[in-house]
Amino acid sequence: MNDQGPLLTRGVRWSLAGLGLVLLAALVLGFVVLPSVKPDFREAGWWQAICRAAGVPTRWYEAGAMDDPGASRVPVVPDFTRVAGGDVGRGGTLALQCTMCHGARGVSASDVPNLAGQYAEVVFKQMLDYRNGQRRHALMQALATSLSEQDIRDLAAFYAQLPRPSPNPQQARVPALVDVGSPLRGIAPCASCHGGIDQKPGSPWLEGMPRAYLEAQMEAFAIGERRNDAHGVMRNVARQMTAAEVVDTASYYASRRVPFSPTAPGR
Ligand code: HEC
Ligand code: HEC
Repeated sequence: MNDQGPLLTRGVRWSLAGLGLVLLAALVLGFVVLPSVKPDFREAGWWQAICRAAGVPTRWYEAGAMDDPGASRVPVVPDFTRVAGGDVGRGGTLALQCTMCHGARGVSASDVPNLAGQYAEVVFKQMLDYRNGQRRHALMQALATSLSEQDIRDLAAFYAQLPRPSPNPQQARVPALVDVGSPLRGIAPCASCHGGIDQKPGSPWLEGMPRAYLEAQMEAFAIGERRNDAHGVMRNVARQMTAAEVVDTASYYASRRVPFSPTAPGR
């Protein structure tokens, strides 16, 4: 009987120490280990880190934290612009508003994305997303708002038939993510959506795009600043990429065109 007092206190002491250890391990895991292996943990801020560590579904806290523009409202159907008949001639006239930045032949000399040879459904969807506010960019949003849906169809048809920038004949080293993906992380090869192996409707043609633009878009997807991708397909990829992989894949795609020269014909 006499022994029970000290025994109980010792038991309580042990369980308290155990609890403390578990708590410490959880804190280290949630705030030190996970943020260091997943870059978007750090950028997303403490509130999201806490929510995520607690297993709260993403949409519960992302919506409030970031003034959610909502999911894209544009259904992605292959070739729907061709089916619906965009007018290339009319598109060419409308495109005079775009040449200043996207280049006279849809190939940009600066860090603006190329439009030449871009899949019509991609241009159509992105323009509508800018117009509806699901993709944010002050300039493109203002421009898109001034265009009718038919204008956008015509522009998409016009850009789709322009020749893509000449492919670089030099064989570049293909990053593993591009043609194999990362099965362990559940990342499908980029080329299985973006062309090369296969093209999934709505996935832009990336070859020859400016490196800085590609990097910026992947980073924006990774931190959820851009989220007009249907079902988060691209966010799920970008979130899992390391900074080095972003640079590597962006450099690869950017290198897939003959370097820009202002004197080259047709530019
Ligand atoms: C003043 C410069 C400027 C003008 C003019 C301009 N754009 Fe853009 N455009 C940009 C920039 C910069 C981006 C990248 C924006 C971003 O980061 O979301 C862009 C992005 C786009 C995209 C998305 C491309 C992709 O691969 O996702 C499309 C489509 C587009 N523009 C079409 C047009 C069309 C059509 C016009 C003419 C009606 C036009 N733009 C006029 C600067 C411009
Ligand atoms: C499962 C299909 C899929 C895979 C795999 C995929 N992407 Fe994407 N990606 C998309 C889609 C769809 C979009 C367009 C989203 C939208 O509607 O705005 C996109 C958009 C992008 C953009 C923005 C381009 C632009 O002009 O707006 C970049 C950059 C990009 N992906 C890079 C990559 C890289 C690099 C990989 C490989 C590591 C990859 N993607 C793997 C489907 C995919």
